[in-house]
Amino acid sequence: MAAPGLMDKLVSLCKRRGFVFQSSEIYGGLGSVWDYGPLGTELKRNIKDRWWHSMVRARDDIEGLDAAILMHPKVWEASGHVSGFTDPLVDCKTCKSRFRADKLEDAQCPQKPSKHPGEHSTCQLTEPRMFNLMFKTFMGPVEESASVVYLRPETAQGIYVNYLNVLQSSRQKIPFGIAQIGKAFRNEITPGNFIFRTREFEQMEMQYFVKPGEDAEWFERWRVLRMAWHQELGLKPEKLRWHQHAQNELAHYARAAYDIEYEFPFGWQEIEGVHNRGNFDLTNHQNASGKKLEYFDQAANSRYLPEIVETSAGADRVTLTVMVDAYREEVVEGETRTVLGFNPSIAPIKVAVLPLVNKDAMPEMATALFNDLRPRFACFYDDGGAIGRRYRRMDEVGTPFCITVDGQSAEDQSVTVRHRDTMGQERVAITQVAAYLAERIVP
Ligand code: GAP
Repeated sequence: MAAPGLMDKLVSLCKRRGFVFQSSEIYGGLGSVWDYGPLGTELKRNIKDRWWHSMVRARDDIEGLDAAILMHPKVWEASGHVSGFTDPLVDCKTCKSRFRADKLEDAQCPQKPSKHPGEHSTCQLTEPRMFNLMFKTFMGPVEESASVVYLRPETAQGIYVNYLNVLQSSRQKIPFGIAQIGKAFRNEITPGNFIFRTREFEQMEMQYFVKPGEDAEWFERWRVLRMAWHQELGLKPEKLRWHQHAQNELAHYARAAYDIEYEFPFGWQEIEGVHNRGNFDLTNHQNASGKKLEYFDQAANSRYLPEIVETSAGADRVTLTVMVDAYREEVVEGETRTVLGFNPSIAPIKVAVLPLVNKDAMPEMATALFNDLRPRFACFYDDGGAIGRRYRRMDEVGTPFCITVDGQSAEDQSVTVRHRDTMGQERVAITQVAAYLAERIVP
């Protein structure tokens, strides 16, 4: 298990350095809703860009989509979410708290000493009742049942109802996929653990449409690719594992499902699901809409409803995972330095440019270098305080390279490149700095 207190330290670092803030903080916050600050926005964007690149840009067989959050309410009836997207909920009449009946062992009763709900003699838990996780709102000025619409609880349905549009406009052939990144909303009963489980979050989902009978084979292929993606992101392989869903854990749409789990300080938890959804969704949408959703296979001169393999990762959850995985503390010369050892390609700031002192032409040279680098790399200019402190500030936000302009720079047109992980330093000619960084910040 990771060191105790790591989550508290991370939450505090995130606020102090501008990664993540509590939503509406000045009003006391809103339960399990978070805002991303300047560095958190960059980090999450870099993760989403990497996902988009690997799914859409680097492949010929996957197209991108950006469907609306609001959809026709019949979508959610056909998908099974109105009837089946529920969690069992219990209330405690004593402490007035609510818990998921199937996760009592993960929950804490607010009474002291710390115990699970139901374990104090004074706990009075109600019988479980089913609670639908979808947020409802109204479309138009009249708040009546006929105008109810839902905030989507997954992005997947926007892909299913558009699959023929994408297929026909892109001239793809099966097998092919559609990828989408977007917001999803769930009225979670017991959210928590910072940005791990929130009520508003972003998903990175890809639906792969295959010929009936080829689903199991594609399911295995996508499992391999998705685990590799998380490892390439820099996550420690020993902190990742598979969890296969037993029959009684499967979501209402799934034939088979595996979660990629990460070992957080609060235990092993899902960060991505790979699901074999068969033709559940297309069959239901075809029946409910009355529109044929079959694919015409020209070569075989036959029609069929494709089967679907889904990969579904949470952008916020992966962002939390990379921060937890990257966080470390080291004692250096009697002082503790905190490092976020991000893979350079996702670091919010790639390079900091630092004049050693604010005189002797160093600021001018540093500014010129900064202006030269910033069109290509996310750069930060810092001339405040002792150089050691400036390095530590950059370590704490995961900046892989610091470039220092010093007294020697004016003499031989070179700078010091200081490495975050080893703290090693080397001299590089100013004309070579951009190439030096490009070589080491591999997208
Ligand atoms: N379309 C399938 C689907 O939505 P899921 O297992 O319910 O499957 C997929 O969700 C991923 O979305 C999860 O692995 C997780 O990363 C993310 N996710 C789900 N609920 C979340 C929440 N309340 N907060 C943050 N991320 C969430």
